Parts: sequence; C-alpha cells; structure tokens
Amino acid sequence: MDVGEDSVDITHLRTPIKVDLSPIYNFLGARTTQAWVDAAIDNLPLIIQDHANCEKKAAGTAMNLIFRYEFSYDLQRKLAQLIREEMLHYEQVLGIMNERGQDWKYLSAGRYAKGMLKHKRTYEPAAMVDVLIIGAFIEARSCERFAALAEVIDDARLAKYYRYLLKSESRHFEDYLALAQSLSDDNIDERVAFFKEVEAELIDSPDAELRFHSGTPA
Ligand SMILES: [Fe+2]
Ligand SMILES: [Fe+2]
Repeated sequence: MDVGEDSVDITHLRTPIKVDLSPIYNFLGARTTQAWVDAAIDNLPLIIQDHANCEKKAAGTAMNLIFRYEFSYDLQRKLAQLIREEMLHYEQVLGIMNERGQDWKYLSAGRYAKGMLKHKRTYEPAAMVDVLIIGAFIEARSCERFAALAEVIDDARLAKYYRYLLKSESRHFEDYLALAQSLSDDNIDERVAFFKEVEAELIDSPDAELRFHSGTPA
C-alpha cells in the first residue's frame, strides 16, 4: 500500500505492479502445497475472515513493539508506517466482507505464530531480534500465499486485491529483516536459518485447522 492512499474502496485500485517474488521464495524454506491452496479456495469465507484477523494482529504486534522499544528511531518510523498500512488493509478486507455479505465470525488463532513465538529468546535484545525475524517470516509467508491464491482464484476482484497486497507485504518482510539485523549486535543469519526451519515445518506438516497461515490440511 502506498502511503497517502486513504481510500478503502478497492474497486479503484491501480493495476498491481509486478513484484519480484524471488527474494521471498529464497527466504522461505518451503512453498505452499497445492493441498492448502485447494482447501483455501474451497473455504474462501474462512480464509477472508482469517485474513482480516491477520491484518489486525499485524498492526497490534507492531504497536506493541513501538511501545516496548522506544530507543530506535528507525524502528519507530518503519513500524508507524507499517501500522498505518496494516490498518488500511484491515479496512479494505472489512469492505470486501461487507460487499460479499459476509458477517464477522469469531475464528480462533491457528498454531502458526505461536509455533514460532515459543522459540523466542527471553532476554534482550535477543527477544526483540527474534520477534522482528518472526515478523519477517509472517510477512514473507503472507506474500507467498497471496501470490498463490491470486493465480487460481475464481474471482477477478479478489485476485486483483491479493496481487495488489504483494508490494506492501514484500516491503514489510524486508523492513522487519533489516530492522532485526540493524538492532542486533551479532550477525542474525544463524537465527534466521533456525526460524526458516521452524516456519517451513509449520507449513509442511499436517494441520487440523485451516487458516491463512496453516500447514498442509490434515
Ligand atoms: Fe497487510
Ligand atoms: Fe504486512
């Protein structure tokens, strides 16, 4: 999402700009399986509801970081912009639900974020660095899944909207990763490699619940 665009009307989105997804595919340790894509297409209202939850959570998590780590100008600025964009996405997804006549429905959180956060180190600045790395994985995975859905979805407007999101979510991935490295005293490569495995396992292994970030349908 470009800063300054404040409309929530998705009918007037500009034609999505082609985003090079190769950095995303290299960063992630696994590609989304066809089984997940098929299940998502068969359960689109659930995926849209969970997507709305994800946008809200993305903003909330970033807001927590802004309160906890006030010393970094870079972090404050990047996350302030990110929160603005995630809240705009949230409004847009609410608009899509409204248009489709889809009522808000409570949906519990899946295992995905918890499955990574349980490995977060408990001392600073390591805890902060881990949360930022996890944020990079969540953004990268979101981007990968929007691209996968946009390819096959039988709804031109939704496909266009998912393609439109690729640009901001791929930038969010890069911002989180850059922040993690710049705020760490040590090289973060090893930590990134660790979470790459954890994340790929969450995506590849059977998952009883279907969610936007769930594993292979069990
Ligand atoms: Fe978003
Ligand atoms: Fe994002």
